[in-house]
Amino acid sequence: MCGIVGYVGRKEAYPVLISGLKHLEYRGYDSAGVGIIGNDGSLRVYKVRGNVSRLKETADKRAHDGNAGIAHTRWATHGAPNETNAHPHLSQDGHIALVHNGIIENYIELKRELAGLGYGFKSETDSEVLVQFISYNRQKYRCTLAEAVRISLHGVSGSFAIAVIDDREPGCVVTARRSCPLAVGIGTDGSCFIASDIAPILPHTKDVVYPDDDDVLRLSLPEKGGVEMMNIDGERREPTVTRVEMSADQVEKDGYDHYMEKEIHQQPQVMRECMAGRVLLGEDRIYLEAFEQNRERFLNASRIVIVACGTSWHAGLVARYAFERYANTPCEVEYASEYRYRRPVILPTDVVVVISQSGETADSIAAIRPAKEAGAFVYGVCNVDNSTIVRMADAYTLTKAGMEIGVASTKAFTAQVLVLMMLVAEMGRAKGVMGGEEYRALINDMVQLPQHIDYILSDESAIRRFAATLLPCRSMLYLGRGNQYPIALEGALKIKEISYIHAEGYPTGEMKHGPIALIEPEVPSVVIATKCGEYEKTISNIQEIMAREGRITAIATKGDTVLEKMVDNVIYVPDIHPMLMPILTVVPLQLLAYHVAVGKGCNVDQPRNLAKSVTVE
Ligand code: G6P
Repeated sequence: MCGIVGYVGRKEAYPVLISGLKHLEYRGYDSAGVGIIGNDGSLRVYKVRGNVSRLKETADKRAHDGNAGIAHTRWATHGAPNETNAHPHLSQDGHIALVHNGIIENYIELKRELAGLGYGFKSETDSEVLVQFISYNRQKYRCTLAEAVRISLHGVSGSFAIAVIDDREPGCVVTARRSCPLAVGIGTDGSCFIASDIAPILPHTKDVVYPDDDDVLRLSLPEKGGVEMMNIDGERREPTVTRVEMSADQVEKDGYDHYMEKEIHQQPQVMRECMAGRVLLGEDRIYLEAFEQNRERFLNASRIVIVACGTSWHAGLVARYAFERYANTPCEVEYASEYRYRRPVILPTDVVVVISQSGETADSIAAIRPAKEAGAFVYGVCNVDNSTIVRMADAYTLTKAGMEIGVASTKAFTAQVLVLMMLVAEMGRAKGVMGGEEYRALINDMVQLPQHIDYILSDESAIRRFAATLLPCRSMLYLGRGNQYPIALEGALKIKEISYIHAEGYPTGEMKHGPIALIEPEVPSVVIATKCGEYEKTISNIQEIMAREGRITAIATKGDTVLEKMVDNVIYVPDIHPMLMPILTVVPLQLLAYHVAVGKGCNVDQPRNLAKSVTVE
């Protein structure tokens, strides 16, 4: 939800800020803006409705020298996506500019108070209220910008990451956060780079500071004070610099047309990385550090409560089947946005598993607090190290999928499922539910995952051809049973997200209780009909669809000779342990959504209205 960047250093700020914004467009792209303090000391702000390329077209033509600045790419929350509501927002006196990611919850109250003091507002945003509030405090306390920001934090509620500049203090950028992601890179020459994630920072430096909630940083070149950090009470704090072990190349497209395509194709390697040091084939053993260090908490859990959003929630649904069947542990799966508000009964013996690619999803983060207050053990499954969920959880496992840029999640999902299956296997083995032979068979199958995914990817042209037949469709059905039901949901979500075809995911057996009414030749069905789950019953359901002239594509186990005689299309996946089958069956559905979206000319990596990281409610 919105990306912010900031820079102060020895180079011209403008190109650094624009290329930084490009990396953050996955967070929002309905409007964009940049604010720079020019060499003549004047504050210049350029804003457009549209994406960063449009901003660049407009701002490139203007003078934009200067070594300190801030910039923003927006996903609208308060106010329509237009030039006025775009960031940076200016204080009334025109001296201060601010970019903001997050939501100021008490902005209406603050706005009223400031209006009473004579402040006027141009936009509908909560962010403009914040910059006016900072300006008001700077004047009232006759203090520096950093001090005014710190004082203002006492008066705002909500979540934010901000970067602020003031033309009376050139050569300095102030930044702060509460419950929103923020990273600050420190270059070897003392230049400072602010961003909502490390992608814009990596081309410049790998030394990064992750501020805590309510830390305020004043950034300038070393000769002007360098990096100064204080907490909300004004106490000086020494910033901890972390060395990030990721290269800038890891966030580029590598010759693929889209990030999503690259990320789908990275999955064999992602599986390898995720298993490295954890799936020990030679020792016939899985080693998941978080489990080993907290065996009693996991093994004595009265139940597992999985909390997540979107695709991560689907990973949780897949895991539920496995926790119950292979680890004999009751498991519930909750939408984080519901869980946080419905006052759930949380037991101190619960293990609350929070699954999140970004580790920054506001609803998932909010679910942690009540769980901790009730004494439950919180386990995070995240893709981003140092993210808020990682830092808040009692224990966590990183999915190691590498940075995911495509808004529609793919490789992060398969890595989440794999980590969760490792946990289930560990618990199942320790509880004696999973016998030694099955445990070893599972490990053997796990290490085959990369080559099995390679096999599915090698048949991409068939999926592309099939995708071409779906372009005129307005609606689709995705059906699956057992642990393939969540994959049906995920397949439907993928096609909705990026190709805007309405799709419903349903348990195959439930189809006759409603969705069957939709069946007609124009509403095709994708049925996951692998051998490992109620296969015969699925075949009967397929016949029910065929009897109503429905078009069917089946995802079948390699070697199946029945389905090809029945349905319109068959996509084969290799046979594998049932716990791991969802990792394979989801891949053709990802490819299908991708090729339909490309065929329809949709913006695959930046689908309309969506954002990669939803850091607001
Ligand atoms: C957004 C993204 C989805 C993602 C969901 C949860 O809606 O568009 O792809 O699944 O957030 O995100 P998380 O980072 O918590 O997994």
